[in-house]
Amino acid sequence: MLEIFLIVVVIVLFSFVSSGFIKLMLFLLLLVLVFPGMYSTLKGAPYLRTGNKRLKAMLGLADLQADDRVVDLGCGDGKVIAAVSDYGVKEAVGYEFSIPTFFVARVRRFLRKGGEKIVFGNFWKKKIDDFDVVICFLLEKTMLDFEEKIWPKLKKGTRVVSNEFKMKAVPPDREDGRVYLYVKK
Ligand SMILES: C[S@@+](CC[C@H](N)C(=O)[O-])C[C@H]1O[C@@H](n2cnc3c(N)ncnc32)[C@H](O)[C@@H]1O
Repeated sequence: MLEIFLIVVVIVLFSFVSSGFIKLMLFLLLLVLVFPGMYSTLKGAPYLRTGNKRLKAMLGLADLQADDRVVDLGCGDGKVIAAVSDYGVKEAVGYEFSIPTFFVARVRRFLRKGGEKIVFGNFWKKKIDDFDVVICFLLEKTMLDFEEKIWPKLKKGTRVVSNEFKMKAVPPDREDGRVYLYVKK
């Protein structure tokens, strides 16, 4: 979503710049900045922020413990993983593949001196199976990919908390409104 803002900024800059070389550089910069976000929107989910009510439900269902390692698959602006970190867990990691959104999450962490780790990267390529809690706010189709590719690799006892979207064949163990908890058996 922030990519749209970047595109508008570059289009405006284009009208002020006469040099073809600088225009080309601006275009390449735009591609570098925008491409990962387009990929994550298509292969994961667009940037949308979890609201406070949902966040409360997610934290309640996650039942966080001091020795938990927690990951947010697509941490957006870092709101959820910041709240998890403030709970006092062992490790709170947010993966984010959109450059502007990643930057916002990093700035948030810097300003609040948070303990969460904000990592730039594609969560499909990360090792998820050693986390105790996995947080998702993705899309219906992405939860199907999650069910096929990540869920089978999770260790026994891992809690998956998904905002809004369910897996297809795996029934949730608990739910609170439209937030779902899955515990790996
Ligand atoms: C709906 S937002 C959720 C943000 C945050 N977890 C929350 O609940 O507020 C989904 C985020 O996942 C990111 N994302 C999607 N696919 C991704 C991928 N493959 N790797 C890393 N981040 C991804 C998007 O860029 C977006 O910021």
